[in-house]
Amino acid sequence: MKKYAAILLAGMMALSLAACGGSGSAASTKEEAAPAEAEAVTEEAEAEAGAATTTEAAAETAAEITTVSEGELHMATNAAFPPYEMTSDGEGFATDAAGSVHFEGIDVEVAAKIAEKLGLKLVIDDMEFSSVITSVQSGKADMAMAGLTVTEERKQNVDFTDSYATGVQVVIVPEDSDIATVDDLANDKMIGVQDGTTGYIYCSDTVENGGYGEDHVTSYTNGAMAIEALKAGKVDAVVIDNEPAKQFVAVNEGLKILDTEYIVENYAIGISKDNPALCEAVNNALNELIADGTVQQIVDKYINAGE
Ligand code: ARG
Repeated sequence: MKKYAAILLAGMMALSLAACGGSGSAASTKEEAAPAEAEAVTEEAEAEAGAATTTEAAAETAAEITTVSEGELHMATNAAFPPYEMTSDGEGFATDAAGSVHFEGIDVEVAAKIAEKLGLKLVIDDMEFSSVITSVQSGKADMAMAGLTVTEERKQNVDFTDSYATGVQVVIVPEDSDIATVDDLANDKMIGVQDGTTGYIYCSDTVENGGYGEDHVTSYTNGAMAIEALKAGKVDAVVIDNEPAKQFVAVNEGLKILDTEYIVENYAIGISKDNPALCEAVNNALNELIADGTVQQIVDKYINAGE
C-alpha cells in the first residue's frame, strides 16, 4: 500500500492540473477562461431565451448544454455511501426519476446546488458503484458523483471536474483483531472491499505492486455488505473510504479503524468525454460553490458538526 501511495500521489498531482480533459491548470481555467466565457454566453443566452434571472452558469446551459433528459441533470451514484450519498427518511435534496426515493448526503446536496445554478432539476440514478462510470459513458446519466476517486485509468473513460473533497482509504477490523497495521494484512488475511472501488484496485493488485493479491480479496456490492461479512467473520478486514468507515463503525458494535498509513485520494465528478460543454458548466458551477463557501458548509453539516 505504501508504494501505491507514492504512485497515486504522483498521478494525482498531474491530475489536479487539468479539469474536463483540458490541458491548462485549474487555476488558469478559473481565473482567465471562466469570466470572459461566461459573460459572452450570458449575452447570447439572454438574447435567445430572454431569460433575465439566469445566473451566469445557467445562461451557459441555455446556450449550449445538452443533458440526457431535457431540463434534468441525472446523477449516477451508489447511495450506500454515507455521508456522501444515502437514502433519506425525509424529503432529502433530490429524488429518483419516479420521485419515490429521496436522497441526501454531501454529493447529493452539492449536486442539487450545481443543478440549481444550471437551471436543471437534479435526478438521482441509484445503481451499483461499478456501473456509475459506464452509465455516464453510455449516455444514460449526465454525471457520476459517488465519492468517486480520480484515477488515471478512470480518466481514460470520463473527464473529471476539479476535485471538491479528499478521501482516505482506511482499514476496519474487529476490535480484538490481531491486525494492527496494513502490513499485517499480508499475513494471509481476507480483505473485504466494495466492488469496483479504489480499495478493490489497491488490495487485489499483486504483492510486487503493493497489493495483497486477488485471492485475498472479496468484493461486495456495497460497503454495508462488506461490513456484514466482517461481522460474520467471512473477512478479516474491510478497506473503504474514511468517512463511510467512521459511520459504519459508529453504528456497528465491536469494530475499529486502524490508525495506519493513509492513502489520500481526490473526489471529483465524472462526465462524458462527448459532452465537454456540460463538464465546463458543471465545473464552473462547482468552483463557484467552492469559492463562496457553500461546499464547505455542506461538508461541515455532515462531517465536522459536533467534532
Ligand atoms: N472512493 C472510492 C472509489 O472511487 C469508493 C467510492 C464508493 N462510492 C460509493 N458511492 N459507493 O473507488
